[in-house]
Amino acid sequence: SNYQNILTEKRGRVAIITLNRPKALNALSDGLIGEINIAMKQFQDDKDIGSIIITGSEKAFAAGADIKEMEKKTFADAYNGDMLAQWHDLTTIRKPIIAAVNGYALGGGCELAMMCDIIIAGDKAVFGQPEIKLGTIPGCGGTQRLIRAIGKSKAMELILTGNNLNAVDAERAGLVSRVVPAEELINEALKTADKIASYSQVTVSMCKETVNSAYELNLREGIKFERRIFHSTFATHDQKEGMNAFVEKRSPSWLNK
Ligand code: HXC
Repeated sequence: SNYQNILTEKRGRVAIITLNRPKALNALSDGLIGEINIAMKQFQDDKDIGSIIITGSEKAFAAGADIKEMEKKTFADAYNGDMLAQWHDLTTIRKPIIAAVNGYALGGGCELAMMCDIIIAGDKAVFGQPEIKLGTIPGCGGTQRLIRAIGKSKAMELILTGNNLNAVDAERAGLVSRVVPAEELINEALKTADKIASYSQVTVSMCKETVNSAYELNLREGIKFERRIFHSTFATHDQKEGMNAFVEKRSPSWLNK
């Protein structure tokens, strides 16, 4: 593959996308986001892949949207080009995505991590929404997802001050699922991703979709949606196989259907 800004690899049933613009601390240019979208779509369509990891370098997951690319844009440029719209393509990927974050995850970098399903942080990770310092505001879900992740008071303080959150505080606040030593980050992310990929892909995607519906729906609608999807797992081969394997005391063999 001839990507300019990312590296991709497959480790068994896990795909890894590594942001690779080291000179700009992985600043998220349009080109970089476009490549993430192409790679994600490719892994979504790859039957051998069960989950996806997105990561950066030890110094930076991503230091935000590319300020040099945005600096001169007028309102009309932003509006007519529907700036940032393509970032949300990530949320249409149905396979689970783990953000393995070391170093800076600032602005759009923090927002990119929050669009993923699980964030695992290396102990050198730093999260923040510093847009206020640039005279703008988070534009890719930061004002919405950070509040849901860590609550209003903490989110408001971070977004209004532009202060950073270190890995331990991010875990305490609930933004990340766990913190691991920086040098263990990829291995830990791989273990989790591989475990997820070991289950039935159809069940995993139904599960992801249903958990994500909690973002969109009120409790009554969410519970109803969950029950409908739960019912539909009984139309799959893999529900029959999973329960039969338990009863017969053997390991299940998933067909992903
Ligand atoms: C473009 C960036 C960049 C960015 C860093 N660089 N962040 N280029 N856009 N967001 C470039 C620098 O210009 C520099 O290149 C090189 O990367 C190394 O950065 P330094 O600043 O020299 O490194 P350091 O002193 O270690 O400081 C690291 C840092 C700092 C604290 C992360 O780079 C920083 O504050 N970056 C900006 C963080 C930020 O404000 N992010 C939010 C962006 S706005 P040159 O060639 O100049 O030496 C945003 C809007 C979101 O994300 C809207 C929705 C997506």
